[in-house]
Amino acid sequence: MDRIAKQHLEMEDFFAGFTLRNLSEPKPPADPVILSPHAPSFQTLVETIAQCTLCELSSTRNHTVPGEGSLKADIMFVGEAPGADEDAQGKPFIGRAGQLLDKIIGACGLSRDQVFIANILKCRPPGNRDPKINEITKCMPYLVRQIEIIQPKVIIALGAHAARTLLNSNAAIGRLRGQFHNCHLCPNLDPIKLMPTYHPAYLLRNYTRDTRGRVWEDMKKVLAELGLPLPK
Ligand code: URA
Repeated sequence: MDRIAKQHLEMEDFFAGFTLRNLSEPKPPADPVILSPHAPSFQTLVETIAQCTLCELSSTRNHTVPGEGSLKADIMFVGEAPGADEDAQGKPFIGRAGQLLDKIIGACGLSRDQVFIANILKCRPPGNRDPKINEITKCMPYLVRQIEIIQPKVIIALGAHAARTLLNSNAAIGRLRGQFHNCHLCPNLDPIKLMPTYHPAYLLRNYTRDTRGRVWEDMKKVLAELGLPLPK
């Protein structure tokens, strides 16, 4: 069987069972961004990001990718930077890594519109190269403002770039993941609990029961921290 198709089936097997069970339960009402009292300031931020020319990525991007989801989310996922699919559509995590992230969110008994999904960078680095320090520095105030508006109870840092940036650390993701850290990124807020875990793209490249199991362990800790039930 083609490797991608096989991965997809395994992904369904590992993460989607929970989603299917969850679909039979009543779904909480959607929480559209527009209903939040923070929507105007968030919308202004989205417009500012769309006009941003603070770094060279503005000259190669097709769309800015500010992030999306509930402005009242308890959980905020932060990835690295948009890829080609995200740059084409202006939405975060919609490519293959995004499909896996959807499965992970579903496995937690949640849907995409109940969490917020953002990235460290709001524009795609050409060829998906690593973010440069000056790009991160220029872009960071946008993420700080997003966190201030949403005030999530837990931030889940997806991958080494997000985890190291948000924790101001050089440690390997394998060392950071699996335990809560305090994120001190927003001077106006109390420290926010941050759980680093593997990036879904890393999971796709290293698709073993072990790596998936570690991500699931990390998610279970987040659910426990929030007092959310563990899907059976
Ligand atoms: N990888 C990321 O880190 N972010 C996205 O939005 C998509 C892929």
